[in-house]
Amino acid sequence: MNMATERKPAPMLDVERIRADFPILGEQIYGKRLVFLDSAASAQKPRQVIDAERMVYEREYANIHRGVYYLSQRATDAFEAARETTRAFLNARETREIVFLRGATEGVNLVAQSWGLDNLKVGDAIVLSTIEHHSNIVPWQLLRDRLGFEIRVAPVDDEGQIDMAAYRDLLDERVKLVAITHCANSIGTITPIREIARLAKEQGAVVLVDGAQAAPHLRIDVQEIGCDFYVFSGHKTYGPSGAGALYGRGELLDAMPPWQGGGEMITRVSFEESRFHEVPHKFEAGTPNIAGTIALGAALDYISGLGHEAILAHEHDLLDYAMARLGEINSLRVIGTAREKAAIVSFTLGDIHPHDVGTILDREGIAVRVGHHCAQPTMDRFDLPATVRASFGIYNTREDVDALYDGLRKTLEIFA
Ligand code: ALA
Repeated sequence: MNMATERKPAPMLDVERIRADFPILGEQIYGKRLVFLDSAASAQKPRQVIDAERMVYEREYANIHRGVYYLSQRATDAFEAARETTRAFLNARETREIVFLRGATEGVNLVAQSWGLDNLKVGDAIVLSTIEHHSNIVPWQLLRDRLGFEIRVAPVDDEGQIDMAAYRDLLDERVKLVAITHCANSIGTITPIREIARLAKEQGAVVLVDGAQAAPHLRIDVQEIGCDFYVFSGHKTYGPSGAGALYGRGELLDAMPPWQGGGEMITRVSFEESRFHEVPHKFEAGTPNIAGTIALGAALDYISGLGHEAILAHEHDLLDYAMARLGEINSLRVIGTAREKAAIVSFTLGDIHPHDVGTILDREGIAVRVGHHCAQPTMDRFDLPATVRASFGIYNTREDVDALYDGLRKTLEIFA
């Protein structure tokens, strides 16, 4: 058998075509080509998403789930179609398992304030990890301070990978919840969430995955992962800010109390008592981000249209190339060298302050994030106050990596 003819060609992204979809990439910054390397903070938006949002306001806007008239029904249909798109994107069983909200942060807070308030008490423990974003730490601390349960933190090794032996040791019958990032925003580590979910389930713990950073890069299958909750944000998935989703396993969502009260989440209100809608509506009080959520559906369609294999192959190529090129700079130290890693490169450059590096790169038209990346415990782990972070997306090219390399060489010359 000829293996060469059997092998499927690696899927490829047509990056030039993708770049043409993103109007902002045509902007000049200080007269230079924009090199956008901060998609982990917030990704840019393709024309398809911008058009979807504009189309709602121009052609089909009205409040949803309330009106008997044509426009309201049309907006409701579009909003609910986005729910089905999101269900398919996460491979959830049912659309009612998808709750729309502002983003990953609000999703974690919802789980903490609804499930957590009802299910955690003194004597219980939850397990987080060192490389969580603040949004998967602070909501649990706020609750811990009210309820008195214990927060345990799984350590990471020098590569930034979860220490799985230590993780296992933290899991015992007191652990009621495990909350873990799928991909660390600050250093790019992709965590073994399937194994973590399996171990947590053996202890009967509930599993929440923070997918804010994974959703733009990886194929997500909440059933295969075996998690109970999964949160992500639209603005990192090439969609609008202020729109995102929480996946919750149906039985759990059914048993959870509402966390915010208001219009839209009730079936009957009197001054004596109120009754609530079924999920997901009981968690969607008030008028939501209607146009933003519909455009989120367009963003997920855009990603799916490109194909996850092609996205992954492209971003792996960029990551390998960036690691090789940046590796040519002796004084550059990469923080986070996990075997499983997204295209996020966090680094320091000699003893030059990351803010100075970021400012010099900015004058070259290069946008990177500098600071603690909303992950101070990760910085503490590596004994650093801050890093420079270059994060890549579907529209980045090797040319962008070369521009970063040249910008860093220039920075070194200035500080020589
Ligand atoms: N969480 C965002 C970041 O990683 C803001 O930069």
